[in-house]
Amino acid sequence: MEQLREMLLQHLQHPVFKVITDTAEAEGLETYVIGGYVRDIFLKRPNTDIDIVVLGSGIHFAEKVAARLGKVKVSCFKNFGTAMFKYKGVEFEFVGARKESYMRNSRKPIVEDGTLEDDQNRRDFTINAMAISLNKATLGNLVDPFDGMTDLHNRIIRTPLDPDITFSDDPLRMMRAIRFATQLQFYIEDRTFAAIESNKERIGIVSMERISEELNKIMMSDKPSIGFKLLGRCGLLALIFPEVLALKGVETVNGKSHKDNFYHTLEVLDNISRETDDLWLRYAALLHDIAKPETKRFDPQVGWTFHAHNHVGQKMIPRIFRRLKLPLNEKMSFVQKMVQLHMRPIALIENEVTDSAVRRLLFEAGDDIDKLMTLCEADITSKNREKVERHLRNFKIVRRKLREIEEKDHIRNFQPPVTGDMIMETFGLTPCAEVGTIKSAIKEAILDGVIHNNFEEAFEFMVRKGRELGLTPITRGNATTCTDKNKSEA
Ligand code: CTP
Repeated sequence: MEQLREMLLQHLQHPVFKVITDTAEAEGLETYVIGGYVRDIFLKRPNTDIDIVVLGSGIHFAEKVAARLGKVKVSCFKNFGTAMFKYKGVEFEFVGARKESYMRNSRKPIVEDGTLEDDQNRRDFTINAMAISLNKATLGNLVDPFDGMTDLHNRIIRTPLDPDITFSDDPLRMMRAIRFATQLQFYIEDRTFAAIESNKERIGIVSMERISEELNKIMMSDKPSIGFKLLGRCGLLALIFPEVLALKGVETVNGKSHKDNFYHTLEVLDNISRETDDLWLRYAALLHDIAKPETKRFDPQVGWTFHAHNHVGQKMIPRIFRRLKLPLNEKMSFVQKMVQLHMRPIALIENEVTDSAVRRLLFEAGDDIDKLMTLCEADITSKNREKVERHLRNFKIVRRKLREIEEKDHIRNFQPPVTGDMIMETFGLTPCAEVGTIKSAIKEAILDGVIHNNFEEAFEFMVRKGRELGLTPITRGNATTCTDKNKSEA
C-alpha cells in the first residue's frame, strides 16, 4: 500500500499539484486527481490532460489555484461547471463533484453537490473512475471503489454502474468503450458489450463531430481493425458507417466466391497502420475498396468483377466525409486521389514495367507517389505466400524504376513546358478545341518518351502538331522564335 502511494506521489511532481494541495487546505475542500491521468499512470502512457475534481465549485477552485500561480488565464465553461488552464505544457481541468448524470450534452447548468463517490459512480469506466487524493493528510492515496486496478490488470473495460445507466447518461461512451478497447487492446466485459448492442440507437443523439473524434482515435490506434470489428458486432457500424459494413460478406455463384472485402479492408488498414501515422492515408486504406459492393457483378466467363470500383469509390468519398463531418478540403482530395489510383502500381507490375507507364503514374500521383506505393503494398493480402513475395519483389522493381525515371525526366508535378497561351500566340488563335488538342498531344508525347520534358523539344513538337492540324505559325511577338525554329527545322 505504502509502495503504491510512493509510486503515485512520483506522478504528482508537476508544480501545479503542490499549489492545488495548498489551495485545498486553505479552502478546506477535498480535492482529487481523477480519470485518464490516473489510469495512464498505471498504463505508463504519457498524458498531459489532468482532471481535478473538487467537492465544491470547480470554477471557484480553479480561480483560486490560478491566483496563487499568477499570470494564468482560466477559461470557464459555466454551463458545464468546469474551468481549465494550461501551465507548463499541461492542461488542468477542474470540475465540482457531481451527483447527477454526467450531462455533457445538456445546456442546463450542472449541480455540484455530490460526494466523491457520487462523482465516481457517474464516470464512464472503472479504469477511468480511480482518484488520487491531493489533500495534505491523505496525499497520494488511491480511491478505487470499483476495483479499476483489477480491471486494468485483467485488461477489461467495464462500467461502474449498470451499463444501461452509464450509456444512457452519455451515449458517446459506447464509442469510447470501443475506442479504449482498440487503443489499449482491452476486452469489453460481456454485460457492458451487451448494453452497447441494446442501446446503440441512442448514438443518434450524439453530434457527428464527437463520434468522428472517437472514430479517428480508433483509426490512429496500432490495430484499428479491433475497433471496426467491435463496431460491426455491436451494430454501431451500421448506424455510423454503413458503407464499411456493406463490404462484409462473401457471395458464391457457380462455385466461385469473391473475398470478404470487410476483412480484407481491415487487414489493409492494419498493414498500413504499421507503416504510417498519417490519418488520411489510413482513411485511404479504409476506403480503397468502398465501391466494391456497388460495382460487384458476376460474369460467367471471368467470375466476379468490380469494374471501376476505384472511380466509383472516389466519387463516394465527399458524401461520406460530409456525413462524418470530416474535412472537405485537400485532405479529402488526397483520400480521393489515393482511392482513384490504388490499383495502378499493381497493374503496372502485372504488365511490363515500361518507362511510359511509370512516367504516367508519376505524373498522376505527383508528390503523393510514395504514399500511393505504401497503400499498394499494404493492399497485398493474399493467403498465398509465394504470390505475396512475388508482388513485394516486383514492388521493389517499380520503386527503383520510379526513382530512375524521376531523376531523368522530372515528371513529378510536371507542368507541360508549353502553355495554352503560347500555343494561341504562335498560331494566332483564340481559345478553341485545337489548343486543347495540341496541349494534350505535347503532354502525351512527354509521358510516352517521344520527346524530353523541356521547352525546346516541346515547342518544336507543338509546331509540328499544329501543322498537322492545318495551322501555320505567325510571326508576332514570341512567335518569331517559332518561325526561326521552323526555318532551322526546314
Ligand atoms: N468521462 C466520462 N464520460 C465521458 C467522457 C469522460 O465519464 N463521456 C470521464 C472519465 O472519467 C474520463 C475523464 O472524464 O477518464 C476525462 O475524459 P477525457 O479527457 O475525455 O478522456 P480520458 O479518459 O482522459 O482519455 P483520453 O485522454 O485518451 O481521451
